[in-house]
Amino acid sequence: MARDKEKRSCGQVVAEWRAFLWDPRTRQFLGRTGSSWGLILLFYLVFYGFLAGLFALTMWVMLQSVDPHVPKYQDRLLTPGLMIRPCTEGLDVTFNVSQSQTWLQYVRALHQFLEPYNDSVQAARNAACPAGRYNEQPDDSVPNYPKRACRFNRSLLGPCAGLEPHGDYGYGNGQPCVLVKVNRVINFFPGKNKSINIVCAAKREEDAALLGPLQLFPPNGSIDLMYFPYYGKRVHVNYTQPVVAVQFPNATANVDHHVECRLNAAGLRTDDERDKFAGRVAFRLRINRE
Ligand SMILES: *[C@@H]1O[C@H](CO)[C@@H](O)[C@H](O)[C@H]1NC(C)=O
Ligand SMILES: *[C@@H]1O[C@H](CO)[C@@H](O)[C@H](O)[C@H]1NC(C)=O
Ligand SMILES: *[C@@H]1O[C@H](CO)[C@@H](O)[C@H](O)[C@H]1NC(C)=O
Ligand SMILES: *[C@@H]1O[C@H](CO)[C@@H](O)[C@H](O)[C@H]1NC(C)=O
Ligand SMILES: *[C@@H]1O[C@H](CO)[C@@H](O)[C@H](O)[C@H]1NC(C)=O
Ligand SMILES: *[C@@H]1O[C@H](CO)[C@@H](O)[C@H](O)[C@H]1NC(C)=O
Ligand SMILES: *[C@@H]1O[C@H](CO)[C@@H](O)[C@H](O)[C@H]1NC(C)=O
Repeated sequence: MARDKEKRSCGQVVAEWRAFLWDPRTRQFLGRTGSSWGLILLFYLVFYGFLAGLFALTMWVMLQSVDPHVPKYQDRLLTPGLMIRPCTEGLDVTFNVSQSQTWLQYVRALHQFLEPYNDSVQAARNAACPAGRYNEQPDDSVPNYPKRACRFNRSLLGPCAGLEPHGDYGYGNGQPCVLVKVNRVINFFPGKNKSINIVCAAKREEDAALLGPLQLFPPNGSIDLMYFPYYGKRVHVNYTQPVVAVQFPNATANVDHHVECRLNAAGLRTDDERDKFAGRVAFRLRINRE
């Protein structure tokens, strides 16, 4: 075989290839005549056209059965997730008190997050709801009737509202605030009619002394039932998610603190080993100073 290859000169190989590419004698391109290529093209055109049509048809049938107001399939979340603001990569709030450029980003993020909570904005958009019970708004024969949202005044967050001029949420004097929010779940009634609240603590008990006392706003970290249920962003356009602020007035500087916040509501489990965000959130806090 090796000898066969050697016999053919380089020129012959090129000529063979050229003939394969385009053979003027049989008028074949890559070994096929024009009509043969045409038939192949036609076959694939029809074949893919059919596939595309089938796809479009299935998609259309699917979309006919989807309601834009409510997700068709929701995992039946037993427990909603919690999240913090400022939300940093790795849930890590680290700053140096005397270097404002290390914490201005947090202040900016909190200002932006809390803008829709301004008392004036809330007064203009949302209703004053009776406290202590669910704000249920049945459809009453008009499907997807717009729902009123309840006021959550920014001033409820006390020193963590960032309202005083140059409000820095305590970052400038080493008493930072972190906001905790409960993720929205449509048509969810947490707490079984009993009051719910957020509790925060050092993740390990032995670190509690270094972390010092915590202050929660609103008091006790309570979340009123009037902010539930949530009906979805199409019908509940002005919905204002309740938040709880936790302030660390006397956390020891220059050490890592691991803080965990949990949602405390009747009927909710927050100890799921597999889901670290089920009804709780853990974050790292480090306050650097000289
Ligand atoms: C919210 O209130 C603060 C202070 O009262 C003000 O500086 C800010 O412009 C307000 N934001 C909106 C969106 O009204
Ligand atoms: C929220 O603020 C508005 C306007 O300042 C006030 O009328 C209302 O009573 C406040 N509501 C609560 C629950 O604090
Ligand atoms: C939402 O807020 C706007 C004003 O910002 C108001 O005109 C509208 O009526 C509100 N929608 C509902 C459903 O309350
Ligand atoms: C809450 O209590 C009210 C009045 O007792 C009752 O009508 C309602 O069904 C209860 N809701 C839930 C989710 O248990
Ligand atoms: C906070 O909770 C304690 C017990 O859990 C209760 O006695 C107290 O009245 C609550 N305070 C507020 C302002 O809700
Ligand atoms: C703050 O912490 C220091 C030491 O960590 C302690 O001596 C002091 O009593 C604490 N102050 C308050 C108000 O908790
Ligand atoms: C914090 O900033 C001050 C002033 O720039 C600096 O002297 C100090 O070393 C910093 N501390 C830490 C732990 O980075």
